[in-house]
Amino acid sequence: MKTNLPEAINKAAEILSRAKSVVIFTGAGMSAESGIATFRDPGGLWDRFDPEEVGTAEGIMSFLSEGGDKIREIIREVVESFGAARPNAGHLALAELEKMGLIRSVITQNIDNLHREAGNTKVFEVHGNLFRFRCLNCEKKFFVDREDLLGRLRDIAQGAGPLSLEGILERIPRCACGGVSRPDVVMFGESVQELDESIFEAHQSDVMLVLGTSGAVYPAAMVPQQARKAGAILIEVNPTEKVFAAENDVYIREKAAIAMPLIVEELKKKKRK
Ligand code: APR
Repeated sequence: MKTNLPEAINKAAEILSRAKSVVIFTGAGMSAESGIATFRDPGGLWDRFDPEEVGTAEGIMSFLSEGGDKIREIIREVVESFGAARPNAGHLALAELEKMGLIRSVITQNIDNLHREAGNTKVFEVHGNLFRFRCLNCEKKFFVDREDLLGRLRDIAQGAGPLSLEGILERIPRCACGGVSRPDVVMFGESVQELDESIFEAHQSDVMLVLGTSGAVYPAAMVPQQARKAGAILIEVNPTEKVFAAENDVYIREKAAIAMPLIVEELKKKKRK
């Protein structure tokens, strides 16, 4: 069923213009236009890599025992897509909404740091952030410069011979305390981050913009459900599937990078009236 785009955009802008507390919830589809593959679309990451292997510590260790070629392949994919990735028009539209004082926070499942780079300041990253590291010794968290990290990953990917754990550890950033650190991303089987804060945000919302997610993974997928439980209207943007939007919500069958700028434009027109 093709939505009537102008009508849906106008309805979404109307709802947002009257909202008191808007919270954003995003998934991988938000970054598709930045060149980062989603997980479950055809040809997505989980079509090419097994999450049980790639997304778990055990999987990484078993790759190492086989010489590490698979790890180098995954790192090449990360460097390729994350290296060129910049905030797209959808990210920038969300940053604009924050500047207009229209949104309370962004809750994202994405680890690509693009919401922060676009300019959103209150961002809850339930699956962590690839450019933030956590010291295994003192637990301190610290951000790593994008180009510095990508350079280190390139070194690992381009190395010759069998890849060892030491070979990886000596290339990833050390904590100021000298401790070994790891990317502050949530692997399968590990607990998510900032879930309580995200649920609190959902409970405070009267409108939740749900952008680019299949809702396939819990507990993250609880967030829009909690917003609805709190009485929020959901505005869902997804070009192929309606996951959360119900009868009195708004569903926009479009890419986030196209729909979000149109919504911001419509909102500005309403504000000028
Ligand atoms: N704009 C908006 N939505 C899009 C776009 C786009 N340009 N392109 C694809 N989509 C939609 C797809 O239709 C799909 O519903 O984005 C969704 C992407 O779904 P997934 O690939 O499952 O990504 P996500 O929902 O973020 O997955 C959740 O699963 O494997 C874990 O940790 C991983 O954070 C991820 C979590």
